[in-house]
Amino acid sequence: KTNFDMGYSSTDYYSFGAADGELDYYFFYGDTIADIISQYTALTGRCPLPQLWTLGYHQSRWGYSSQQEVLDLAQNFIDNDLPCDVIHMDIDYMDNYKVFTVDKNRFPDLTALSDILHQKGIRLVTIIDPGTKVENGYHMYEEGIKNNYFAQTPDGEVYENVVWPGDSVFPDYTSSIVRNWWGSQTKFLLDQGISGIWNDMNEPASFHGPLPDDVVFPGDDMPRQHKEVHNVFGHLMAKATYEGLKQRDGRRPFVITRACYAGTQKYSTAWTGDNHSIWAHLQMAIPQLCNLGMSGMSFVGTDVGGFGSDCTKELMCRWVEVGCFSPLFRNHSAIGTRYQEPWRFDQETVDIYRKAAQLRYHLIPYYYDLFFTGEKTGLPIMRSLVLHYEKDEVAKECNTEFLAGPNLLAAPVVTQGDRKKMVYLPAGTWYDYWTGEKISGDQGQWILRDAPLDTCPLYVKAGAVLPVWPKQNYVGEKDTNQVLMLEVYPGEGSWDHFQDDGESFAYRDGVYNQYHCELKDGKLTVSCVHDGYEKHYQRVQVHCLGKTFEAELKDGACCVEL
Ligand code: GLC
Repeated sequence: KTNFDMGYSSTDYYSFGAADGELDYYFFYGDTIADIISQYTALTGRCPLPQLWTLGYHQSRWGYSSQQEVLDLAQNFIDNDLPCDVIHMDIDYMDNYKVFTVDKNRFPDLTALSDILHQKGIRLVTIIDPGTKVENGYHMYEEGIKNNYFAQTPDGEVYENVVWPGDSVFPDYTSSIVRNWWGSQTKFLLDQGISGIWNDMNEPASFHGPLPDDVVFPGDDMPRQHKEVHNVFGHLMAKATYEGLKQRDGRRPFVITRACYAGTQKYSTAWTGDNHSIWAHLQMAIPQLCNLGMSGMSFVGTDVGGFGSDCTKELMCRWVEVGCFSPLFRNHSAIGTRYQEPWRFDQETVDIYRKAAQLRYHLIPYYYDLFFTGEKTGLPIMRSLVLHYEKDEVAKECNTEFLAGPNLLAAPVVTQGDRKKMVYLPAGTWYDYWTGEKISGDQGQWILRDAPLDTCPLYVKAGAVLPVWPKQNYVGEKDTNQVLMLEVYPGEGSWDHFQDDGESFAYRDGVYNQYHCELKDGKLTVSCVHDGYEKHYQRVQVHCLGKTFEAELKDGACCVEL
């Protein structure tokens, strides 16, 4: 057990400590916050480049509970012209909540379901919990018992507690053999067309009180007690899942986890768990996600719309205006609460939702570039203002705005009833994304911006070059490898844009193209500085404050006078 007191007892000091065992101290010295994050992630690991589709929109709910319901859900997205790349299947797809099984009554043919959805550009992600049902004849239980794969009582009996399936046992992920065994089970889901795995309840959560401190995890060679293992249990489950998927599928694994630890960014994305459909939790989402990013976890999100309680139309609209910028963009809600798909509200909500989701899809190439460079720098996607404006006292305290990468500043409305927003713009020149209005200041300034329900105030830094996509309702709907579309904001700046297959690890062997864009003196020059991927852009289309310019790329290069 670790405790952190970050300015709570006194603003003069921070303190932290652990209940037991020795502490290892690591000190990072650097001039900037970015330096420190970079060093911290050099030690603990960096978030790897995800598959492109994972940056699309994810729809989830506990519980979509039949094949037909999932098909109807997908059709509703299509009929409403709403982008969607992923549907998450919660515990109800399993047979009696037994992990690595499928309920054949509700989902008679999961493979056929994934095939049909794939044709519509939609993928499935399934939940997997650690709690494994105690049941004779169930392969996971029997194999685990036979091989001593589960945590034990101090007397050497298999330890049981209760989770969704009833009496359950807990895999010992501290053992590499158990991790391999667990990871190998992913084949069962991959074979049925599943594209990623959602790890939940991996604190581990248990309904009959927490696991006692002295529960034993035998490990490979050194038994450890739960009190020592607790913090890394979720981390090791994510590692087992990541490695299992990587070995069997070969593509960049998509894992989402509820519990994590320093370094989990190497294996998994994370969401912030069971929030509620209340304004306070929307407000909290911004600092939560920014703090996770500062802690190395770049690929994160909250349950958009809130998990528990009933979401209102207004809250839904405001939440999607934040969610569309969060790296993991997933709407999820709990059983028994109001359904939270946009059409469950009214037409206006659908239109507002579409606007936000389309903006996200428009910006995916920008996000992808941030992930590409993030794998080298450790810098997050969603950033507190202070990360780029360290000397600015307002930026330090600002919890109601955030940056997406260095060049976009989102100032969403997170208060019920508000139709205007006080926006803080740090020093420099900014452009209003929606109107093109230019706002400059030698110092930071507050401005009052109209923010009707359908608008999240959004600003772009002067000199920004934003790679964007044309309208798509799923990743890969259109061929985006012909024309490089750039939105450019007058000023001086540069950007590196990456093009690759969007799914394999080949980029690590240099199989990608890197286009360096330089904006200076009213000219944009683009040059291919790394040529490693077979597909190349033929043309560049530049949008700058209402004007469009086109140019051919010759040997990967061109120059556009704006
Ligand atoms: C947990 C998860 C939630 C999920 C539910 C049922 O509460 O945090 O996301 O829907 O379990 O599996």
